[in-house]
Amino acid sequence: MQPYLAFDVYGTLVDPMGMSELLASDARDAARSVSAQWREKQLEFSFRKGLMRAYEDFGVCTRQALRYSMASHGLTLTKKREDELMAAYLQLPAFEDALPSLRALEGNYLMFAFSNGTPAALKKVLGHNNLLPLFDGLVSVDDIRSFKPDPAVYAYARRATGAMDQPLCLVSSNAWDVIGARSAGLMAIWVRRDPHKVFEDWGIEPNATINRLSELPAVLSSL
Ligand code: LAC
Repeated sequence: MQPYLAFDVYGTLVDPMGMSELLASDARDAARSVSAQWREKQLEFSFRKGLMRAYEDFGVCTRQALRYSMASHGLTLTKKREDELMAAYLQLPAFEDALPSLRALEGNYLMFAFSNGTPAALKKVLGHNNLLPLFDGLVSVDDIRSFKPDPAVYAYARRATGAMDQPLCLVSSNAWDVIGARSAGLMAIWVRRDPHKVFEDWGIEPNATINRLSELPAVLSSL
């Protein structure tokens, strides 16, 4: 039985570190550091808002994290520039393997984008990179006002994709997402984009680990 595929978006299909070039005019030498902390805080804020049952959408987490990261580097942004950077976030670049790899799978699997992002943000960023038409649907946590790795979110993904009796397999570069999905009973493939990344030793393993999305067809047929 072929699994339904649920692709994580940020970090897996599009690159949040794509913001570092734009940040160069605001943060100069600190641009990569600001960009990395922006991403870390965006995730932390989503986790905390989920735990606090105080949902605000991922765009709010992203904006608050940008402000935090700039401030913690002793930097400021005008409101206009903050809005520009937030608009640019909707046009993050795709990883170069995303489009050809999804095309190679098209027709053989039911494929969904499954993300903490809002439906509007997902449509924009996937549309900008020509990835949107390759999906059978989008699954956004916004529908149930919580965030990955809440198990309710993975259960919702099963309902939203229709994968109730068939396996649903997450494809994600985020180890915490893979662990969340496996813990909630999904299959999951970890995309280890950075060879230095270490998978957290929680006793919960991915079904497979790949280095790039182009390895997906082979690994899926071996599962
Ligand atoms: C996503 C982020 C959290 O769900 O990677 O797309």
